[in-house]
Amino acid sequence: MAKVLVLNGPNLNRLGKREKNIYGTGTLHELNQRLIQLGKELDLQVVCFQSNSEGELIDQLHGAEGQFDYIIFNPGAYTHYSYALRDAIASIDVPVIEVHLSNIHARESFRSTSVTAPVTAGQIVGLGFTGYEIAMVAVQKKLHPSIANSSN
Ligand code: DQA
Repeated sequence: MAKVLVLNGPNLNRLGKREKNIYGTGTLHELNQRLIQLGKELDLQVVCFQSNSEGELIDQLHGAEGQFDYIIFNPGAYTHYSYALRDAIASIDVPVIEVHLSNIHARESFRSTSVTAPVTAGQIVGLGFTGYEIAMVAVQKKLHPSIANSSN
């Protein structure tokens, strides 16, 4: 069974408590449970990891090589300035889909820059938890092109 690593960066452990008007009321635990359940339906094994530490996220990215087929990654605020995370993504051959709960292009100007996005397979923003679910469907279609539509 194909394996997907769902990585969440700093402050995403605060989901359900932090800025609910922006990030919603669902918790990280609820998000992870939803993705694990969806993985069962899509035949994807899902492993979830969250860290507030840049170094731990880099270690997870490095360690994913040879272990995972895809990574779904919300780097939180590191998105906007962490060249170290960008280089870690570029250093591995596991494709990464970047996800943001909020629409980073419609908020403070510093959030509209993602230094990580250029080395990812794609970016999904502004759709809340649904964005992670869409990323899971994209992974399944990429891994099983026979069931993807002809434009893929
Ligand atoms: C975020 C957007 C970032 O700008 C912010 O620092 C976060 C969450 C999002 O999911 O919308 O922590 O990545």
